[in-house]
Amino acid sequence: MTTAVIGTGGIGSAIARQLAAGGETLRLSSADIKSARTLAAEIGRAAVAAAGNRDALRGADAVVLALRFTVLKSVIDEIAESLTDKVVVVPSNPLSTDAQGKVSRLLPEGQSSGEVVAGWLPSAARLAMAFGSMSADLFESASNRSPEPAVLFYATDGDRAGEEVERLIRTAGFEPVKVGGIGQSGRLEVGGDLHDLIVGPAEARSLIGGA
Ligand SMILES: NC(=O)c1ccc[n+]([C@@H]2O[C@H](COP(=O)([O-])OP(=O)(O)OC[C@H]3O[C@@H](n4cnc5c(N)ncnc54)[C@H](OP(=O)(O)O)[C@@H]3O)[C@@H](O)[C@H]2O)c1
Repeated sequence: MTTAVIGTGGIGSAIARQLAAGGETLRLSSADIKSARTLAAEIGRAAVAAAGNRDALRGADAVVLALRFTVLKSVIDEIAESLTDKVVVVPSNPLSTDAQGKVSRLLPEGQSSGEVVAGWLPSAARLAMAFGSMSADLFESASNRSPEPAVLFYATDGDRAGEEVERLIRTAGFEPVKVGGIGQSGRLEVGGDLHDLIVGPAEARSLIGGA
């Protein structure tokens, strides 16, 4: 299967490496094509650098938008026509970092990135919030854990998006566990009770039920 990864920075490169290691074919793009080319060369035959964001979606079954929250809307607008029936996976947390490294939240408390992104997407796209619930370092070190896989939580309102994101999560070396619909996606974000947790499936299910 083929997945487009738009954004090849901290989390996008980690997602791409893990998906490629699990056998996924990737089409990568970034603001500066050199970033996507460098990552494609590092990954090898499983990945190609696309000519741009729209080109990344050609032939892709799903797209991961591994972008800072502040650029998400402009990229969604750019690729909107190519998103019909595509599963769109978003790891973005609603944060910005200033020149001094100070991190601030961009949305009011209680409003999640997923709820806002759902309103930006064309209605024919199928959103799943996933792959943003832990830091890139933790994500790479916890993948393919044995004997018990670590869980990656996700949120979606749709069955097809759920099936596809579960496949991607397994390909990346994790056990998928659904937290609920997009309305629950704040639990996965920085500050949420399920953020930066490395747990097995049984503990994950009890945490979800216990909220
Ligand atoms: N890093 C983490 O550990 C982590 C963990 C969980 C969730 N997240 C979330 O994931 C999101 C991305 O974080 P990050 O740390 O990966 O950010 P990052 O390192 O700054 O990477 C952002 C990527 O977006 C690309 N980009 C920017 N504008 C673009 C455009 N118009 N079209 C295509 N690509 C564009 C950049 O391209 P260039 O490379 O060419 O500049 C870069 O590859 C954030 O919302 C963050 O909250 C991050």
